[in-house]
Amino acid sequence: MSPTPVSFSSPVAPAGYTWEATDEEVSARYGVPLDQVARFDLNTSPAPPDLAVRLLAANAFDRPISEYPPSDYRRLSEAAAARYGVARDQVLVGAGADEILDLIAKAFLPSGGAAVIPTPSYAMYRVDTEQRGAEVRAVPRLGPADGFAMDGPAVRAAARGANVVWLCSPNNPTGLAEPAGAIESLLDGLLEDAAGGTEGPIEPPIVVLDEAYAEFAGSSKVGLMATYPRLIVIRTASKAYALAGLRVGFALAGPDVIARLAPYRPPGSVAIPSVHIVTEALLDDGILAENLERVARERDRLSQGLTGLGWIVRPSVTNFVLVDFGTDARAAAVAEALLAHGLVPRTFGAGHPLAHCLRITIRSAAENDRLLAAAATLDLEEIA
Ligand SMILES: Cc1ncc(COP(=O)(O)O)c(C=O)c1O
Repeated sequence: MSPTPVSFSSPVAPAGYTWEATDEEVSARYGVPLDQVARFDLNTSPAPPDLAVRLLAANAFDRPISEYPPSDYRRLSEAAAARYGVARDQVLVGAGADEILDLIAKAFLPSGGAAVIPTPSYAMYRVDTEQRGAEVRAVPRLGPADGFAMDGPAVRAAARGANVVWLCSPNNPTGLAEPAGAIESLLDGLLEDAAGGTEGPIEPPIVVLDEAYAEFAGSSKVGLMATYPRLIVIRTASKAYALAGLRVGFALAGPDVIARLAPYRPPGSVAIPSVHIVTEALLDDGILAENLERVARERDRLSQGLTGLGWIVRPSVTNFVLVDFGTDARAAAVAEALLAHGLVPRTFGAGHPLAHCLRITIRSAAENDRLLAAAATLDLEEIA
């Protein structure tokens, strides 16, 4: 019998979507002390930058927390614009990339519309699409031998008449970026299709390029906004900046597209401490370099260690790796064994194309050591 996944179902989420279990739920269910629960499932970084800790301790933000944040997030938008190489009117601030995804769905996905998702990818694209009452056109990605790349011609075909195409590069949960030129060719094709409509030119779909993990890969496609005016690039402070708890993300797009999104934005969803700390973090060059170096070093060490134990670890340019266990039952059994140690991997439920895999976040050296030690006690041949 396969174990019941550790999850919490919201009564308001679209059918089939569950949130991850909390630390407290894991602790209670597996009898592990709360401080021994380690999150290998959320693709966060294990510790915030010193700069953020200092600013929080100083308790001195741009303005008192008795006030609302500035309605234009001016300094934060300027810092993001400078960091990402765009103009200030090409930036929209949100409470995490997740709020940006929600705003895009509200602005561009009418009920009865359609969105294309190269699958598997980040779960919220489907959730946001379904919440709008729009159709999900899932296009299977190529296999591991092709780096789980999107199937460009199939995505282009599915995009005919669609409102939105959700792209993610590097992709969560597969860990690699799209191959060189793939996104450019897709955008060219979409422009060609829009120009050559049988009843005259039509607007090409909005293309969302979620670059939540771009810093780890060291490259961005934000420059493509110049050739594809309906491109929205998404960035976040949650991953490479190690500030997920502050909930700050950005949409980068042409001023016209930003103006279409802006009316859906709540006036002050990003709290004053978050605005202040992320502004300073974006202006600082050191934070990023330090975390990127740490992640790359630990990713190599963890991948090599697990490979040495016979685990099939897929290559990754991100702060997580995908591990292939061959069968759904074995992946589920390994997840249960890790959970018994308080180590929480990301599982993919029955029916998911990666149900035979687990996704594992690169954590601190000490936490990664705990994972390696737990993995060393498992005999994969014996399991399931
Ligand atoms: C691809 C992708 N986009 C967006 C997010 C959400 O990021 P944020 O914390 O900025 O809401 C995640 C988080 O895991 C992600 O993997």
